Amino acid sequence: MDHAPQLIQERSAPPATLVIFGASGDLTRRKLLPAVDNLARHGRLPDQFALVGVARTPMSDEQFAESALGGKSLLDKRQLAGGVRYVAGGYDDPETYKRLAETLDELDAVRGTSGNRLFYLSTPAGAFEPVINGLAGAGLNQATETSFARLVIEKPYGRDLATARELDGVVHGAFEEHQVFRIDHYLGKDTVQNVLALRFANSIFQPIWDRSWIDHVQITVAETLGVGTRGGFYEGAGAMRDIVQNHVLQVLALALMEPPVSFEGENLRNEKVKLLQAIRLPTDRDVSEAAVRGQYTRGGTREELMAGYREEVGVDPLSRTETYAAMRLNVDNWRWAGVPFYVRTGKRLPARLTEVALQFQRPPHLPIPADQLTELDADALILRIQPNEGISLRFGAKVPGHSFRVRTASMNFSYDQTFVEESPEAYERLLLDALIGDASLFIRSDEVQQSWRIVDPIIEHWERDRSPIPSYEAASWGPTDADRLIGRNGRKWRNAS
Ligand SMILES: NC(=O)c1ccc[n+]([C@@H]2O[C@H](COP(=O)([O-])OP(=O)(O)OC[C@H]3O[C@@H](n4cnc5c(N)ncnc54)[C@H](OP(=O)(O)O)[C@@H]3O)[C@@H](O)[C@H]2O)c1
Repeated sequence: MDHAPQLIQERSAPPATLVIFGASGDLTRRKLLPAVDNLARHGRLPDQFALVGVARTPMSDEQFAESALGGKSLLDKRQLAGGVRYVAGGYDDPETYKRLAETLDELDAVRGTSGNRLFYLSTPAGAFEPVINGLAGAGLNQATETSFARLVIEKPYGRDLATARELDGVVHGAFEEHQVFRIDHYLGKDTVQNVLALRFANSIFQPIWDRSWIDHVQITVAETLGVGTRGGFYEGAGAMRDIVQNHVLQVLALALMEPPVSFEGENLRNEKVKLLQAIRLPTDRDVSEAAVRGQYTRGGTREELMAGYREEVGVDPLSRTETYAAMRLNVDNWRWAGVPFYVRTGKRLPARLTEVALQFQRPPHLPIPADQLTELDADALILRIQPNEGISLRFGAKVPGHSFRVRTASMNFSYDQTFVEESPEAYERLLLDALIGDASLFIRSDEVQQSWRIVDPIIEHWERDRSPIPSYEAASWGPTDADRLIGRNGRKWRNAS
């Protein structure tokens, strides 16, 4: 039987073993192990907690423990001492799972981990299937009346709708949906969850959160970095699969969905799915009007010259992979009919920022001469997901002086300045949720499928289109086609300086 999610004030993990597959990898080292360390430091893990790494790279328990938490390790001290193991073995070798099962039984006996297991798949996607089958082959997928077996799966979850469904087939062959936690680390960010707080813990925003007040919405996920050493991986993904299909559509769903009955997992996810279902797909004919791709070329300044995408390590010199994607989406429901949603993401843009900007309609009549309004933009509410986490409300204010000039001013809420509490890292929050059994910030199977339904037609259109991929210089705001996309209706991107 699965444990019921705990109340917010009691958010500590139950006795459990966290098993990380791909334990020798980058994500494990940079995010997962520090998250475990932080949870331990913040008193969120019980003494009956254990950690097991699994990967092919030979390592001893001690070496993994060392790589786990390094010099500052809590391992040598109370909490995790004696509770770290490493199982070396191939992902499709039944022996690996036999040894893992023995290790888990031993930990249950010596650590009191109560048979509760959280399996975290932090391998490249090609290893998901053998690991899931290996776990099932050893009976490790089985929950009991008193213990849980849960699976956390990293992205990418398929590379289109068909492969996502295939992966679902494999997953559901071994685990029931309530045991599955598909991770999108964006949902672990406090600022993403604050979209829910802003919308549903206040009454003032709800009446203006619709087509009567909002002219359009822009969602931007901009990165300054290029692909770095991940060129080989990125070649098989591109901006649409890497960012839009998951992070962008998740943020969009939270920002636009109807109020859920509660934030409990199924209620919240039902509303997200309904919103995603309401997104109208572009027909093949209008993809070229509704979606734009781009690839960065060499750019920057004399001091900081940046290579073009095709010059990056692991990238095909004739690559057609998009490093930038922008789309106009329409949501066909009562709240949003007729409001365009512009989303964009790109690498090597001039600023690193993620934000949702709701731009309000202009007043129906302005009793002020136009030449006194030249510095007035439309009112906007901007949710800054990262960096400078916070919210800004932009509106017109009279400029002090003898004339009646009106200029845009803003009210700012900043996380940093308002709260003394520190935000936990996204992975820390999500690991704790998975240990507790709270699935509200994880992606349900039907959500993944809806997201692929939306991006698939565009990706397919681009794959068929043999015309040259539009380019943009590194450190610029994307291809000019993207300006045309939003400019068609007289709007423009909010480009931070
Ligand atoms: N790194 C990130 O920042 C990040 C961010 C978001 C999502 N993710 C996702 O998280 C998962 C893990 O990412 P990662 O960056 O940690 O990956 P990684 O370093 O390439 O791989 C993790 C481990 O998986 C094992 N592995 C199994 N099959 C492999 C194969 N065919 N090729 C290479 N390694 C293989 C390797 O360990 P052994 O050789 O020892 O078995 C490797 O150390 C991926 O699904 C990735 O998409 C990563």
